[in-house]
Amino acid sequence: MMKKCLFPVAGYGTRFLPATKSMPKEMLPVVNKPLVQYGVEEAIQAGLTDIALVTGRGKRAIADHFDISYELEHQIAGTSKDVYLESIRKVINAGTFSMTRQREMKGLGHAILTGEVLVGHEDAFGVILSDDLCLNNGGDGVMAQMVKLYKQFRCSIVAVMEVPADEVDKYGVIVGTELNKGLYRVESMVEKPPIDEAPSNLAVIGRYILTPDIFDIIRETPPGKNGEIQITDALNKQASDGCVMAYKFKGRRFDCGSVPGFVEATNFVFENYYDKN
Ligand code: UTP
Repeated sequence: MMKKCLFPVAGYGTRFLPATKSMPKEMLPVVNKPLVQYGVEEAIQAGLTDIALVTGRGKRAIADHFDISYELEHQIAGTSKDVYLESIRKVINAGTFSMTRQREMKGLGHAILTGEVLVGHEDAFGVILSDDLCLNNGGDGVMAQMVKLYKQFRCSIVAVMEVPADEVDKYGVIVGTELNKGLYRVESMVEKPPIDEAPSNLAVIGRYILTPDIFDIIRETPPGKNGEIQITDALNKQASDGCVMAYKFKGRRFDCGSVPGFVEATNFVFENYYDKN
């Protein structure tokens, strides 16, 4: 049974400098909750309770966030402020948290390979990039939707969405055959294609289920775009040898790795999810 979910959280978050100079971008709050907590809640809802964090230098706050703060607990226990700790207590009780460090930022593929020691080869595992915030209005989160599909197809799955044609160069893009509505067998994938060469506008977002053979494939994958080891290149190989599915998820995704996406998410969560009383 799938239990593990990997969170690559080692990136520098340069687009949020100077805020991210000494604070991890994954700890930026969307209203009152850090981005990474939204991701972990989504994993736990999907039954992926073994949370594996690939961190880096300057990311200690993330590990601390998923641990008990005795002093704080002591200070506010029994007061009206107790309620503010409820959501994080729930997460801490539901999950286990392990960490390893990516020493050099050599790309998402490399970050995932660094997590091999935590997730092992027993079963497929989820990958959540917490700077993509996904919300589905109280229904199944994106990862829960993907776990259901994995049980049916038993192969790697990437979450995709249609993006405007002039934005395809920011994403990994797939070419596939549609099997059911919104479900594709991936034929090939390309990372950040030039706008006029993009094979489709189906863009991969930060949710994956990967089968463990991906690790050997990543090991063999040379650096690609920007000199980084790209997960898209490894998935492209996996798609040509075996099976990768692409799934048009239900829900809304916010690119919280960019300032405009982050502000949009903040307004949306404040209007639709935050208890203003
Ligand atoms: P991004 O490229 O969006 O994140 O990587 P970044 O590098 O932190 O942000 P900018 O571009 O400098 O603003 C997508 C995800 O992959 C992780 C990042 O933490 C982010 O969640 N990542 C990326 C790693 O963990 N290691 C890497 O080497 C690269």
